[in-house]
Amino acid sequence: MKDFTGKVAFITGGASGAGFGQAKVFSEAGCKVVITDIRQDRLDEAIAYFREKHAPVHAIKLDITDRKAYAAAADEVERVFGSPPQLVFNTAGVNAFGPAETSTFEDYDWVMGVCLGGVVNGMVIFVPRMIKAGKGGHIATTASWGGFMGGATTAPYSAAKAAVVNLMESYYLALKPYGIGVSCLCPVGIRSNIGDSSYTRPKHLEKTGYNTNEKTIEFMRKHYSYGIDPVELAHIFKKGIENDVLYVFAFPEPEKMLRDNFERMINYLTPEGMKRQDEIEKKRHEEMIKHPNPSIDGAEAVGWGKARPDITWVAKEHRVPD
Ligand code: NAI
Repeated sequence: MKDFTGKVAFITGGASGAGFGQAKVFSEAGCKVVITDIRQDRLDEAIAYFREKHAPVHAIKLDITDRKAYAAAADEVERVFGSPPQLVFNTAGVNAFGPAETSTFEDYDWVMGVCLGGVVNGMVIFVPRMIKAGKGGHIATTASWGGFMGGATTAPYSAAKAAVVNLMESYYLALKPYGIGVSCLCPVGIRSNIGDSSYTRPKHLEKTGYNTNEKTIEFMRKHYSYGIDPVELAHIFKKGIENDVLYVFAFPEPEKMLRDNFERMINYLTPEGMKRQDEIEKKRHEEMIKHPNPSIDGAEAVGWGKARPDITWVAKEHRVPD
């Protein structure tokens, strides 16, 4: 897609971070934008920004895990802007970090429910509407570089993002005959409010195995203040959409990162390779100690990524320090 003028763009998580950046950039590019978000306060702030610019932007409060509400939001888009969106941004996401072995069903249901289930809902609801409208279009989903690897403290998030990366390839192949493109953004760090995720965690899914409290949330806020600017990221994504490429990476050497990634998987094939990979990880760890990353400074002190304090059966390194 090259011309965005008059196109209807639907953005989940559009009131904050990456989604708000996309709303700004695609509104400026001429789209009629629908921002949706679970947080009304953030929607109010975001819509005030667009009102000042007299931009055609419509806000809908939506929890993307609620399929009925999602379908009703899709109907509302057609009522307000006269057609289904030609651009769908699956951007909303949440995260929670802690040792994989302490993850609860609720950790999985919440993180995967939003990060994967929300994307699935978007695809099932919008793809048939887009095809029937016969105007082509583009699906633009935000996954994560985290989807290319597992992590000891990132299990539900990494699994959800890996599934999203894979899902987008399936849709990319399937939607070709309809003139609907698919792009999947895989960022590393975004300057955003994702550190506040816990505040949108539903009550019935609040049981976590991870150490989550005001101090770890404060740490996350600082951590996510170091990422790429969401508007800059949205411009990179826009170029990817214009060029109709499947994967959009927002850092200088994506080929090297992907090669290293597949090298890691190849190493996991043999005992010798496993040893090689251990050495690589050890060296990486030493480098991190030599060149500390300010964005993770203070993580240890607040017990970020550790087990819930009453879970005592985990390895010492996974427990909150005394
Ligand atoms: P953000 O928190 O600033 O924006 C996400 C928005 O999604 C928030 O406004 C939040 O209220 C909304 N949201 C959460 N749950 C929702 C639900 N159930 N229904 C509807 N809206 C919901 O965070 P950010 O970082 O801009 O996240 C955007 C995407 O980027 C996410 O998919 C995230 O996983 C991904 N990402 C973020 C990275 C980062 O470093 N911040 C790195 C890589 C990927």
